[in-house]
Amino acid sequence: MEYGHFDSEGREYIITRPDTPAPWANYLGSPAYGAIISNNAGGYSFVKSGAAGRLIRYRFNEQDRPGRYIYLRDDETGDYWSASWQPVGKPLDQYKSVCRHGTGYTVLEAEYKDLHSEAMYYVPHGKDYEVWKVKVTNKGAKARKLSAFGFAEFTCESFYEQDQVNLQYTQFITRTYFKDSFVLQTINENCLNAVNESRVETRFFGLARADVTSFCGDRAAFLGKYRDYGNPVSVENGRLDGTLNYNLNPCGALHTALVLQPGESTEFVFLLGQKREAQAKELIARYADAGLPEKEVDELKTFWHDKLANLKVKTPDTNFDNMINTWNAYQCFITFNWSRAASLTYSGLRNGYGYRDTVQDIQGIIHLDPDMALDKIKFMISAQVHHGGALPLVKYTHNPGHEDKPEDDSYGASTGHPSYRADDALWLFPTVWKYIAETGNTALLDEVIPYADKGEDTLFVHMKKAIDFSLNNLGIHGLPAGLHADWNDCLRLGAKGVSVFVALQLYYAFEIMIRFAQFKKDAATEKEMVGLKERFGKIIEERCWDSDRFVRGITEDDQVVGKPGDPEASVWLNPQSWAVVSGFADEKRGKAVMDLVYKKLNTKYGARLMAPSYQKHAFEGALALLFNPSTKENGGIFLQSQGWLILAEAMLGRGGRAMEYYLESCPAAQNDIADTRLMEPYVYSQFTESSESPFEGRSHVHWLTGTASTVMVGCVEGILGLRPDMNGLLLSPSIPSAWKSLEIEKVFRGSKLNIKVSNPDGRESGCRKLTVNGTAVEGGYIPASMLKAENEIVLEM
Ligand code: GLC
Repeated sequence: MEYGHFDSEGREYIITRPDTPAPWANYLGSPAYGAIISNNAGGYSFVKSGAAGRLIRYRFNEQDRPGRYIYLRDDETGDYWSASWQPVGKPLDQYKSVCRHGTGYTVLEAEYKDLHSEAMYYVPHGKDYEVWKVKVTNKGAKARKLSAFGFAEFTCESFYEQDQVNLQYTQFITRTYFKDSFVLQTINENCLNAVNESRVETRFFGLARADVTSFCGDRAAFLGKYRDYGNPVSVENGRLDGTLNYNLNPCGALHTALVLQPGESTEFVFLLGQKREAQAKELIARYADAGLPEKEVDELKTFWHDKLANLKVKTPDTNFDNMINTWNAYQCFITFNWSRAASLTYSGLRNGYGYRDTVQDIQGIIHLDPDMALDKIKFMISAQVHHGGALPLVKYTHNPGHEDKPEDDSYGASTGHPSYRADDALWLFPTVWKYIAETGNTALLDEVIPYADKGEDTLFVHMKKAIDFSLNNLGIHGLPAGLHADWNDCLRLGAKGVSVFVALQLYYAFEIMIRFAQFKKDAATEKEMVGLKERFGKIIEERCWDSDRFVRGITEDDQVVGKPGDPEASVWLNPQSWAVVSGFADEKRGKAVMDLVYKKLNTKYGARLMAPSYQKHAFEGALALLFNPSTKENGGIFLQSQGWLILAEAMLGRGGRAMEYYLESCPAAQNDIADTRLMEPYVYSQFTESSESPFEGRSHVHWLTGTASTVMVGCVEGILGLRPDMNGLLLSPSIPSAWKSLEIEKVFRGSKLNIKVSNPDGRESGCRKLTVNGTAVEGGYIPASMLKAENEIVLEM
C-alpha cells in the first residue's frame, strides 16, 4: 500500500492518504527554535531544547496528539472538520487531503464539502517563532458562513518532564490573557518585580490578517468535559467562551468568523512563540503583509536547495536519486542539527551531543556544506579530554577548558555517563579525513583547539592523543579494551575484555595519521604510526580471526564472541565490513568475509547486525539480550551498519551487491510496503525487525539516527565512488552492471564538476578512460590542480 510519492523537482514528499501507518513527520526551524510536525499536524515546538524549552505539548506514544490544530466549521449546518485530517477525522470518502513535506516547511491541503483549505507551517529562516498560514477557498456555488479556530496547547512550564509529571506544582504557575489579537500566557508571573523576576516567561498564540471573533485560554473550557481534540465543545458550539487560564491547563485558542462567496478565498495567519507582549504585537503587525509567508517559505527553499545542490545525481534508479539528492541529504542535516534530541520518539531528555553520534553525523554533510561541518568538528575536538578520551555526552552548554569529565563524579551525575566509551574519539579519524580531503583545508591540522577540561593543542596533536587514549586502555592480548561500550551500546566487554571493532577503527586511525604525518613531513610520527599499524595488524591477525570470519570481541575471561559454532551470535556484521573499510582485509579476504555476511546475515530488508539473536547463550556483558530477538542490537537490522556494508562492497568493486544492499533498506524503495515498514518512506529509521520477529520488516525510531550519514557516505564514496584525498579526487563508481550511464554534478573545492559516467560493457567498477576537460588522466584520479571553475569530466568504465 502506498500513502504518497516523491516530487523530485519540488523536493517534496507528497502524502495523498492521511491515514498513514504512523505519524509521518517533518522538521521545521533551527537549533534556536525547533518544531516537529506530522502529516496530521501532530507534534510539538521548543525553544533551543526539547527537554528544557518545550512550548506546546505532545503526548508521546499515543495517537499523534495534540498538535497545531486548525478547525473549520460551517456556521449554517454546524458541521466541523480540521485542516489536517485528524483530529476530527472526517470519513475519507468525503474528506480529501494532501500533505506536502518540504525542506523546512509543511503544507496540509484539505477539501471537504466544497471548501478547500491550505495550512502552511514553517519557522522563518533564522527566527524563533512559527507561522501557520491558512488559506480557505469556497469552491462551491453558494456563499458560505464559516468559522475558523486555531488551537495550540501550551505547556505549563518549559521543562517537559515537569510539565508531564510534577502536576502539583506546574498546574499552579500559569495564566493566560487576551490581548486583542493574541492569547498571552505567563508562567511564574507572580515573581514579576521580585528578586526572581527572571523566572517569568511569556508565550503567545496570535492571529494576523483577520479579526478575533472569540477566544479562549483554558484547555478544559476549549475541549469541554469528557471530550477530546476531535470534538471540542467550543468548536461544536461555534464560539470560544472567553475563559482564561488561572491554574490548571492553559491553551491558546482563537476564532475568526468568515463569509466566503463562491470562488472566493481568504487568508489569515496564526503565530506562536515565546515572546513578550510587545514583541507579539510587533510580529502580528508584521504579518499584516500579505506576501510575507510565501516570501519566507521561498527563502527556506533557497536556503536548503542551495545546500542540496552541491551534489546532484542522475542514475537509472529514481529511488536512489530522490534519497541522495534530497531526502537522505536533508535527513543528514536534521541529524546534524538535532543530534538525538527531539523527534516523535526522542522526547528531548537526551540533553547533549553523544560524542560518537555527532562525530559520525558530521560525515553526512561534509560533501554538501563543509563550512558547517568544520564548526562542529572543532566543537567536538574541544570536547576531547586532555588525555585524548572523549566526553561521551557533550552538554549543550559545553564550555571548553572548564568541563568536568567521566573521572569526576559530577560528570556522571549530571549526564548519566559515568565512564569512557572505547570508540568515541576514534570516529574523529574518518570525519577529519573526509573534511580535509573534501576541502583541502590542511591548515586545520595546525589549528590550536582547547581540550574539554584543561590545556590546548593543535588538531594534529589532538588526534595523536585520541590514539594514545586507546593505547593507554588496552585489554587482554594487547587489543583495545571494550570499556563501557564500543559503537555497540549493548556490548560490555569490560576494562580488560577487548573489542575487534575498535581494533579495526584504531588500525584505520594509524593509516590516517600516517597520511597526515607524511603531509606535515613529521617523520617521527610517521614512523611511529607505521610501527603501530604493523604491531596491531599482527595482533588482529592472530587474535581476531577465526576460520572464516573476524570475531566480535574477547571477554575478560577470554571467551571469544562471534566465532564459528557458537549457538548464538556466531557471525557479526561490523567486524567484517570494517575489516574492509579499515583497509585491514585484502581483496580476497574482504570478498570472502562479505560473502559470509551475504550468506549468514542478509535478509530482504538488509543485513542483520548479528545472528542468531541472543536467547539462551548470552555472556554477561551482552546487553542485547534485553531486547526481543531480531530487534535492535539483538540481531535486528541495525540500519546504521548498512552504510558500512554498502561502502565495503563498493570498495571491493562489487557494485551489484552494494546496490542490492542499498535497495533492501532504502526507505524510498519501500514506498509501496508502508504498512509493513510503518515509518516515513523518505527517512531512515534506526532499525528494522528481522527474521525471528513476527513483524519482519517493521522499522522504528525515525529521523534521528546515524543511518543517515553512514548510508550517505556508503553511496557517495562507495556507489558513486567520489573519493577525495588531500590532492584531488579519485573517481571510482561501483554500480550495478545494468546501469549503462549516470551523471553527477558536484561542487568540489569551489569548482563545478559535471561528471558523465558510461558503462558500455556492463561492468560493476573500474575505469577504462577518464578525461578532464578533454585531457586524459590516469587511474581514475583527478588532481585538484587541473580543475577550472567548471569542468567536463567523462569516465568510461
Ligand atoms: C544508537 C546510538 C549509537 C550507537 C548505536 C548502536 O544508534 O545512538 O550511539 O552506536 O545505537 O548501539
